[in-house]
Amino acid sequence: MNIMITGGCGYIGSHVTISLEKLGHNITIYDNFSNSSKEQIKRLNLICTSNIDYICADITDTKSLKNIFKDKKIEAVVHMAGLKYVGDSESDPISYYENNVTGTINLLNAMNECGIKNLVFSSSATVYGEPEYLPIDENHSTSPISVYGRTKLYVENILKDLSLSDPDWSIVCLRYFNPAGAHPSGFIGEEITSKSENLFPTIGKVLSGIMPSLKVYGKDYQTHDGTGIRDYIHVLDLSEGHAMSVEYVNNNKGIENINLGRGHGYSVLEVIKSFEKITEKKIPYEFGEYRSGDISSSFADVTKAKQILGWTATRDLDDMCKSMWYYYQN
Ligand code: WQD
Repeated sequence: MNIMITGGCGYIGSHVTISLEKLGHNITIYDNFSNSSKEQIKRLNLICTSNIDYICADITDTKSLKNIFKDKKIEAVVHMAGLKYVGDSESDPISYYENNVTGTINLLNAMNECGIKNLVFSSSATVYGEPEYLPIDENHSTSPISVYGRTKLYVENILKDLSLSDPDWSIVCLRYFNPAGAHPSGFIGEEITSKSENLFPTIGKVLSGIMPSLKVYGKDYQTHDGTGIRDYIHVLDLSEGHAMSVEYVNNNKGIENINLGRGHGYSVLEVIKSFEKITEKKIPYEFGEYRSGDISSSFADVTKAKQILGWTATRDLDDMCKSMWYYYQN
């Protein structure tokens, strides 16, 4: 199939590009390079066997979208372009609503006008907010506690209304838990930027000497070791889930929200221990205050992904730490 990946040069987007190209799809990346660079295209072409087309443009640029849809005879869209920093979303909500919600509406209008109604949307487990029960299944209530999470939920609701209004649409919203790790080639992974606030890139900063030590946010959670628990999922497992979702939307109609996680939670201290084992380096850390907006534990019920997509994660925490460390060493 001819597939457009918006945000296809991002951390997860570039792995999705690889997984889809590997299955023989023709990929066109549509990216404004606000959170990535054209260097990523070169790296992708080192890994992929067929040439990866790309256009540097924004999803607010309807003309470019429609031109690409027609020129490349696009049949499905994987929509990953958007702003993703929880902290930033609180201080600059309008940019987040403009990019993540208005940008998506713009994309949907362009798709509709070109008769493209197959969509895989990059959503997030942050739509659930504070878990009422664990593991979290797709019927769990959705009450996100961040602007970022609310932008994802609003788009999910827009897609649900679109699907109800026009049953020709086929949509899958993938609710990512905590993506981590890198491609085994060492060519692509999660860039460490000043904005990185997630655990894995922050440990990367400590391992790379950019930061002297890791601050563990809270040590008295109701968990086995007092530190926060999350469902970390290898970015390759995640990208393979996208590839199976493209297959699904090509053969079905309607809309589905699907969790992508391992169905297992690891604590902060367990992640630190895994990195120390893999790198044979000590990771200095100290306990700090709880981070506002943090929840204690979160991990997925992944039954639906297995049933609907035939997908399960196969890589574990050590694979995530090993691949990330290899990427940073390169
Ligand atoms: C994980 C655990 C922290 C940093 C993110 C965002 C968003 C989403 C994935 C897609 C928590 C602890 C972290 C640090 C720490 N992506 N921690 N010291 O909080 O689940 O949120 O989930 O939608 O990016 O919503 O992930 O990696 O920030 O934190 O102790 O320096 O590590 O308290 O327990 P989180 P995270």
